[in-house]
This record gives sequence, C-alpha cells and structure tokens, in this order.
Amino acid sequence: MSNEQKPWAGRFTEATDAFVEAFTASVSFDQRLARHDIQGSIAHATMLARIGVLSEEDRETIVTGLREILADIERGDFVWSVELEDVHMNIEARLTERIGEAGKKLHSGRSRNDQVATDIRLYLRGEIDLIGAELRRLQAVLLDLAEREADTIMPGFTHLQVAQPVTFGHHLMAWYEMLTRDQERLKDCRKRVNVMPLGAAALAGTTFPLDRHYTAELLGFDRPAANSLDAVSDRDFAIEFAACASLIMMHLSRFSEELILWTSVQFGFIDLPDAFCTGSSIMPQKKNPDVPELVRGKSGRVFGHLLGLLTLMKSQPLAYNKDNQEDKEPLFDTADTLKHCLRAFADMVPHLRPNRDAMHQAAWKGYATATDLADYLVRRGVAFRDAHEIVGKAVRLGIKTGRDLSQLALAELRQLSTTIEADVFDVLTLEGSVKARDHFGGTAPDQVREAVRRARQILDEAVSE
Ligand code: ARG
Repeated sequence: MSNEQKPWAGRFTEATDAFVEAFTASVSFDQRLARHDIQGSIAHATMLARIGVLSEEDRETIVTGLREILADIERGDFVWSVELEDVHMNIEARLTERIGEAGKKLHSGRSRNDQVATDIRLYLRGEIDLIGAELRRLQAVLLDLAEREADTIMPGFTHLQVAQPVTFGHHLMAWYEMLTRDQERLKDCRKRVNVMPLGAAALAGTTFPLDRHYTAELLGFDRPAANSLDAVSDRDFAIEFAACASLIMMHLSRFSEELILWTSVQFGFIDLPDAFCTGSSIMPQKKNPDVPELVRGKSGRVFGHLLGLLTLMKSQPLAYNKDNQEDKEPLFDTADTLKHCLRAFADMVPHLRPNRDAMHQAAWKGYATATDLADYLVRRGVAFRDAHEIVGKAVRLGIKTGRDLSQLALAELRQLSTTIEADVFDVLTLEGSVKARDHFGGTAPDQVREAVRRARQILDEAVSE
C-alpha cells in the first residue's frame, strides 16, 4: 500500500519497508478487540455530539456506519489489512470508505493510545465476568460433591504420608476455600480494570472540552482515569489479572496433581469418567487422566505470561511506547487458557467417582488414629510428650505384628500405659477420629455439612449480586 492511504502519512515521503510494515502490525491478533473498539468509538462519537464537536447528523452517520462494520466483522465479511497496521486504523479507514467525510471526524480528541488502552480494559472486564462465572460454577459443583462425601473417610496427608483421617468432603472444601479467595481477588482486580483511559488522547489530554465522565458512563466504566499520562501507559491492570490467573492456575495444578495421584492404581481413590480421559496407542490397559494433566501443564504458560507482562512494563518511560502492543497476545492467551481450564474442571468434577472403600482402607493402613490415642492419654492426665512416646511404641508393635492400633489387645496397650482402658477403642476407629474434630474448620462430617451450608449461602448471594 502506498503511504497516502495511511492515516498518519502526511509527514512521510517514503513508503514503509514491507518487512517493517508486517513486523509492526498488530492486526493479526488485535482484531479480536473489534467489538470493543467499535463500542468505544460509538461512545466517543456520542459524547462528541453532546459537547457540540460533532453534529447530530454526523454522529448518526458514524454510529450507523460502525454498527454495519461490526455486523460485517461478525459475519466474517471484513477483510483485515496489514498495511493498516491495527484494528483501530482498519475500522476507521473502512468507516470513512463507507460513510465519507463524517468518518474522518471521529478521531477528534482521541488517539490510538487511549483507544487501545480502553479497548483492552473493555475486553478484560468482559473476560473477568466470564471467568468469574466459570469459577462460580466450579465452586457450586464442588459444594455438591462435598455434601455428598461429607461422611466419606480418607487419609489426610502431610509429606504425602498418611497423617490423620479426614473426610473427603472436608478435603473438597479445602479446594473450595482456595477458589473463594481466587474469586475475591478477581473481583478486586476488576475494580482497577474498570477505569476509562479515553480522553487521555495521545498522552496529555486534548484541547476539546470532552465530557469524560459521560463517556465513562456510556461504557459502564466506574470513572475516567485521573491522569492522562498514566492512563495511556500503564498496563498494571493486565499484570494484576495475570497474577490472579496465575494463582487460580496454581490452585488448579494442585487439584490436578491430586486427581492424577488418586486415579493411579496405587491410590485408586477416584475414578474419572471415560469422557475426560484418553487411552494409549500402545498399552491397551491405559486410561490416562489427560484433563488434569493438561491443566497442570497449562499453569506454566500462564505463569510465563505474568512474567512476560511484568518484564514488558519494567523500565518503560512514560507515556505510551510501542512495547505495549506486546501486551495483547499474553493477555488473550491467559484469559483463554484460564477459561478453558475452569470449564473443563467444572464439567468434570460432578462426574468424579470416589472409591470409598479404597479411601477407607488407605486411612486404616496408615496408623492415622495415632494422634487420637495420644489425645486420649492426655485427657487422662498424661503429658503430651509422654503420650507421644507411648503411642510411638504402640505403632511400632503394630508395624511389627502387621496390625492396626485398633487391633491391638487391651492388655498389650496397658503394658505401654496403665491409664488405657477398654473405652480406648472408641477413639481408635476412623469414624470416631473424624467425628471428634468437631469445631469450626474441623473435619467432622457435621462440620463439613455446616461449611457447605454457609458456603452455599455466600455463593447464592454472589450470584444474585
Ligand atoms: N497497535 C497499538 C497497540 O497495540 C495501538 C496504539 C498505537 N499507538 C501508536 N502511537 N503507535 O498498542
């Protein structure tokens, strides 16, 4: 394309180098922002008409033209041109082509710098809402499963060694809590995303008496950005989103890891539905937990995007720099990856099939009630350190003779401590152990049911907000 067709061609005498043209263009990826770009332009034109910079007639022509262009884009009838560099210039050039003179007036009091910053904020606000909804869906299915599994006993682990019995419902509610904090972080991040750069123009504001509060209102922003230099230059909101996304992915990767372990033959705690697994091309017996594995793997790219965006911003002088064009691909990929991972999990969790016997068996094999025996001795006046020692010996005897603590004879236990009496066997059962941890935040089935009830109430309120 000769330079004359470019909106900024006036001061140039030579054509852009062909490779440079392709190298600097962003339209291949920022065309994703078309809807937001048009939304921003319609609001800008509406505001310009209100303050008398555009005639009512021009506004009407511009808005109609933009709506038609959007319809073309959505139908796939829009030819994007690399020569026109980015989504903004493509749409503006097409507008003028379509409606003539009026199209040339749209860019009054605006720059691509405030335009692009506005577009990505509009885009990200929408993505945050979609991601929030997927996250809530996952939270809701976790609550249903936790309620169903409130009485299911499994080993709780520290160091991945059997520690104490817990209920599966309690374990699921731990995942729920993590997601609740993720949800809060996302909501908080949205506040800083939802601020409008438009009106900052290139960097210093504009000589037109723009009503930025009105434009902000039209676009559903909480307020216009308070400093024009800051408005066009900082991408901290995108970094913050990537940080929220990274934390969610980190949580999903832990969730994934446990599912991967638990679906193994060695654990056998969980069965994943076939619909969420694939087989092996060589080993006929295999059923691989692909979905959790992929989610675990995808956490890497999201963490990478966080670091990429931070590095992109680091040391940038005020105000806008072309570096910022590099914010889009990592941001888009972060939002897409996160949305897909949450969706896969929300779809999969209701179909997890716990193998209650295997879980119970594993808890039973690991001397998981040893602490309960120590606590029993403490209640009978033995100092905790002495109780620890006594129980340690009981476990040793169990290991040597291949028996659980509950299978030792009373006489054998009394040889270790005469404070032990027949009622000791009540605390040595797994059921007794979990039931005894009956306080706020504890693993007792009743506490789990109560936690689910509280959580459901909060989640329902969040939905109706
Ligand atoms: N494509 C650019 C971006 O993504 C739009 C802003 C360009 N502004 C400029 N002065 N070159 O950041």
